[in-house]
Amino acid sequence: MKTHLKGKTALITGASRGIGKATALRLAEEGVNIAINYLQNEEAAKKTAEEIQAKGVKTDIFQTNVGDFDAHPALIENVLKTFGTIDILIHNAALGAFKPVHRLKMNQWDLSFNINTKAFLSLVQKVIPIMEPKKEGSIIAISSLGSHRYIPNYGAIGISKAALEGMIRYLGVELMPKGIRVNGVSGGLVDTDALKAFPFFDTFKTEVLKRTPAGRIGKPEDLARVVAFLCSPESSWIVGQVLIADGGLSLI
Ligand SMILES: NC(=O)c1ccc[n+]([C@@H]2O[C@H](COP(=O)([O-])OP(=O)(O)OC[C@H]3O[C@@H](n4cnc5c(N)ncnc54)[C@H](OP(=O)(O)O)[C@@H]3O)[C@@H](O)[C@H]2O)c1
Repeated sequence: MKTHLKGKTALITGASRGIGKATALRLAEEGVNIAINYLQNEEAAKKTAEEIQAKGVKTDIFQTNVGDFDAHPALIENVLKTFGTIDILIHNAALGAFKPVHRLKMNQWDLSFNINTKAFLSLVQKVIPIMEPKKEGSIIAISSLGSHRYIPNYGAIGISKAALEGMIRYLGVELMPKGIRVNGVSGGLVDTDALKAFPFFDTFKTEVLKRTPAGRIGKPEDLARVVAFLCSPESSWIVGQVLIADGGLSLI
């Protein structure tokens, strides 16, 4: 039985569905209390909360658009009211328009940067005063291969993830002396609702399958396991890194 994280509290953005949900369930299995942030799908958030509760930990749902930075103080305050502290922050929520970069409207660029990248910085700034006095904290952001490779129509998200990965490296260095460890997890194609938004998805999936040495596309749990590892002291010597879990796709 793994007990390294038992009794800790994690705030996970976008934890109602997909990779965020799988991460929430994985950490709950280790005894972590879970603050589930979501955007609009209250039904999914409540269902995730029920599944987490069944694992015997404390949980609650927190509706906040993380792209709205003015809402962050209230989000953190509400999580603190319910759980008393935050030991782990996982920024998983992401959105973005699917179109060629040269056709992006400025508001579409802002949308993905606000949610995917700037929200991470703002939330990190809010949890530092909570984690620093304890000299302990773990912060993880979820990225994707589109941060450093061309994926058709994925530029709005891919470029925001490139900046996110840069931020992970800088924050990794700046916050480690405070006892706060920052890392990232990146994946190839993962089977979640997000894929429904991909234009020409079937062709894209066939291509990815052909090029993935592991012979399948990813499952949310494939990334959740890596996130849990990075949250645990088992990975204490890993700082400011983005670990890729993609069945070998990025090597081909
Ligand atoms: N799927 C992939 O192929 C893949 C691959 C590599 C990396 N990733 C990364 O993994 C992360 C999760 O992706 P996913 O595929 O699991 O997505 P998903 O299934 O579409 O779920 C997105 C989650 O984020 C929440 N969300 C979206 N915008 C939000 C906002 N502005 N504020 C708060 N919550 C918000 C959604 O809440 P609601 O339920 O309320 O809508 C939902 O819980 C993203 O960072 C993505 O870039 C995905």
